[in-house]
Amino acid sequence: EKGTYPHYMLKEIDEQPAVMRKIIQAYQNEEGQLVIDYNIAEAVSEADRVYIVACGTSYHAGLIGQQFIEKMAKIPVEVHVASEFVYNMPLLSEKPLFIFISQSGETADSRAVLVAIKELGHKALTITNVPGSTLSREADYTLLLHAGPEIAVASTKAYTAQIAVLAILANVTAKFRNQSIEFDLVKELGIIGTAMEALCDSKEEFEAIAREYLSVTRNAFFIGRSLDYYVGLEGSLKLKEISYIQAEGFAGGELKHGTIALIEDGTPIIALATQEKVNLSIRGNVKEVVARGANPCIISMKGLEEADDRFVIPAVHELLTPLVSVIPFQLIAYYAALHRECDVDKPRNLAKSVTVE
Ligand code: M6R
Repeated sequence: EKGTYPHYMLKEIDEQPAVMRKIIQAYQNEEGQLVIDYNIAEAVSEADRVYIVACGTSYHAGLIGQQFIEKMAKIPVEVHVASEFVYNMPLLSEKPLFIFISQSGETADSRAVLVAIKELGHKALTITNVPGSTLSREADYTLLLHAGPEIAVASTKAYTAQIAVLAILANVTAKFRNQSIEFDLVKELGIIGTAMEALCDSKEEFEAIAREYLSVTRNAFFIGRSLDYYVGLEGSLKLKEISYIQAEGFAGGELKHGTIALIEDGTPIIALATQEKVNLSIRGNVKEVVARGANPCIISMKGLEEADDRFVIPAVHELLTPLVSVIPFQLIAYYAALHRECDVDKPRNLAKSVTVE
């Protein structure tokens, strides 16, 4: 039940710190070490390539998961949109391992790929929030999200849970493969829980941003580089699906190759700057659009901030920033939808799980 909350979406956004703690608990052994089923760690470790297949928000989580698995476990990863993969399968490696990411575990597009790769004799791991769901039953292995039921059509806590579970999977696989990891993931996830709480306590600021930038606009752009780009894709999907504002997530450096033509006087540009190595370049991209009249809203991370930034999120480990940097976007989308009097929990034309191909 949504209790005192006006919408499930807001309740589910607020549940994210608790979900982080639940996930840590669920994947920790008595000695406090992160663990997953031995067979899963072995299957991923032995793969010569991991194929992540998903749709929508779960696909966006997969893009972050790719970075984790490549950076921590040092296994090459491809991420595919399920509906494309099924009709246009890439040349597969010799020993592939498939990871299906699905909140509901019922998405037909993802299931079609699972059926196809099982016919080819490949192994599959499903990461889902729903035990006993179709994708869980039909895969060889399952990792659960422990996010609790997600009712709002717009996925929020499942996205951060997917990212956390992918981080744990990458971390445990890395250890299995004797790759050294120079940070303590349990400790970092703890820091993230606290940072998430601080962001959930800053609702008024995100409401103000939504009011200022998004209450009348027809369109909006989310820009970022590397991980921030992927979070921008998710921010734009959230905004589109519940506020009906035409929004696009873009890689900061790619704008000037065409899309910058869309920038007009006052076009909102929401830029994310949480990555040290691209901080200067994303700020350069913001200057390029400001010179064409855009109205910039920069959200940066503590330690990388500059004077005009609209909001500064607490510092967390550089690889794990999506877990926190998405929260401003979730809340901005929520308030934009509210201000525009949209049905937040049940946006038009959408169902919670898409069970047709
Ligand atoms: O249940 P799934 O994770 O497989 O669903 C995939 C997408 O349909 C889903 O993430 C959709 O994009 C959400 N409504 C986004 O908020």
